[in-house]
Amino acid sequence: MPSPNEILVELKKIKYPGFTRDIVSFAIVKDIEVAYAGVTVSITMASASPEVVEKIVADVKAAVAAMPGVPAVNVQVEQAAPSAPRAAAGIAQPRTIAGVKHIVAVASGKGGVGKSTVAVNLALAMHALGWRVGLMDADVYGPSVAMMVGVEKAVTLTPERRIIPLERYGIRYISMALFINDETAVIWRGPMVTKLETEFLFNVEWGELDCLVLDLPPGTGDAQLTITQRVALDGGVIVTTPQELALLDVKRGVAMFEEVHVPVLGVVENMSYYVCRKCNHRHEIFGHGGGAALARSLNVPFLGELPLVRELREGGDNASPIVAANPAHPVSAAFKSMASQVIEGLDRSEAQHAS
Ligand SMILES: Nc1ncnc2c1ncn2[C@@H]1O[C@H](COP(=O)(O)OP(=O)(O)OP(=O)(O)O)[C@@H](O)[C@H]1O
Ligand SMILES: [Mg+2]
Repeated sequence: MPSPNEILVELKKIKYPGFTRDIVSFAIVKDIEVAYAGVTVSITMASASPEVVEKIVADVKAAVAAMPGVPAVNVQVEQAAPSAPRAAAGIAQPRTIAGVKHIVAVASGKGGVGKSTVAVNLALAMHALGWRVGLMDADVYGPSVAMMVGVEKAVTLTPERRIIPLERYGIRYISMALFINDETAVIWRGPMVTKLETEFLFNVEWGELDCLVLDLPPGTGDAQLTITQRVALDGGVIVTTPQELALLDVKRGVAMFEEVHVPVLGVVENMSYYVCRKCNHRHEIFGHGGGAALARSLNVPFLGELPLVRELREGGDNASPIVAANPAHPVSAAFKSMASQVIEGLDRSEAQHAS
């Protein structure tokens, strides 16, 4: 019979569905018991979908059964209590930021879907609704927030060498781009980047904020997961486009936030349709209703859809984001509707925690 340690080595080869990281590093393996009759592996799952649990159970059974001398494998699944799941799993408690009430991360399954555009305008829309808002560009390789809001001056430090965020259009923001040049970006790779990024985030003197919006790097892999594990997030927003493949990625985004017990505040479908200037007709190039239907099936809120509009791109390129530059535009109204839904979602989960 193998020892529990030998079994753990085998379990480390099993990937968590949808991630490159193994199930042991997700801290869901709670106990391995080796007895005469067979091996019992106990796993704790907090909020994963039944399919994910099923897949993990099947993989664990197959991996252990394949080891020499194992007569039987039993996998016990425990539902972790939603309170204290991290402590039970031995994961360090994610850090809060002094003075910052809520932290919301904007994620997307793939790049180029408009995540930064949404993060910037959502932050501005929350500000327009009266919130004190900060914005952090957590994407080292494609930092665009600085370009989208415009950089007027260099970043300064407090006497304690803490970073003072810049301020534009009423929101405080900071971007990795303000600190690195192209050559350093190339040197920063993998886990190192995520570590530096989170340290960086905690070194910013945000002051009093109602909400800090994080523009995550594109994707839902290990780098993004690490950030969501280190920072005490209050909610996640997922940006997608209507193509089927992009929609599939939404599932991964939802799984990522669920794994770290962060409520998904909603899904935004960007570049949903195009309104022709000549005929005023709404062209649904990639079909209609996919994002809303998917959100419904995943049981997460759908925050709305955004059309493909020239002003949105120009606003991004010219450092004049549409919500600030043209508040009367229908797209700005759409962002404000999204922002109020996000605020409601934050209030709701706060009320749940308090009760
Ligand atoms: N609804 C829209 N209509 C027109 N242009 C848009 C729209 N949304 C985003 N864009 C433009 O598409 C480009 C990509 O958007 P953005 O940079 O926000 O995407 P991203 O998901 O953050 O990309 P990355 O993965 O590189 O971080 C930008 O030029 C942006 O101005
Ligand atoms: Mg971006």
